[in-house]
Amino acid sequence: MHMHKYEKIWLFFGIGSLFLFLTIVGVSAFAQGNQPPSCLTTIDPEKVDQTPPFNKPGLVKTGDNEYQLNIVASAFAYTPNQIEIPKGAKVTINVTTKDVIHGFEMVGTNVNMMVEPGYVNSFTKTFNETGEFTILCNEYCGTGHHLMTAKVKVVD
Ligand code: CUA
Repeated sequence: MHMHKYEKIWLFFGIGSLFLFLTIVGVSAFAQGNQPPSCLTTIDPEKVDQTPPFNKPGLVKTGDNEYQLNIVASAFAYTPNQIEIPKGAKVTINVTTKDVIHGFEMVGTNVNMMVEPGYVNSFTKTFNETGEFTILCNEYCGTGHHLMTAKVKVVD
């Protein structure tokens, strides 16, 4: 079979750029370690129940009007799943997972985190108004994904 000279050149060029592309993707994905940039704290996902503060999940007062809200995600629930926050509280939400990747979205707010095994994700928010918020999982995590919710009440 006869191949035109230019056809060969283009074929070579095409394969060459494919390899170049795959090399760039491979190096950039794995060279610096494949981890989300916002996850600075690590945790052993097998030992979440024994690791403070997640051995006692819930709301903890840490200062004047300042709180820590530690939440454990697992298939298919958040612990705790009913949370009361005093109005005006500045809350640092720390969340981790015992099993697979989950989401943590507080509907109607800018709180939206991906929860990955091995990492603690944090977000600080001040709750200035009373009301109710729903937390839901926005990463597909299995058959009970759509059941994975929690409620936050901001009270006077
Ligand atoms: Cu957890 Cu979807």
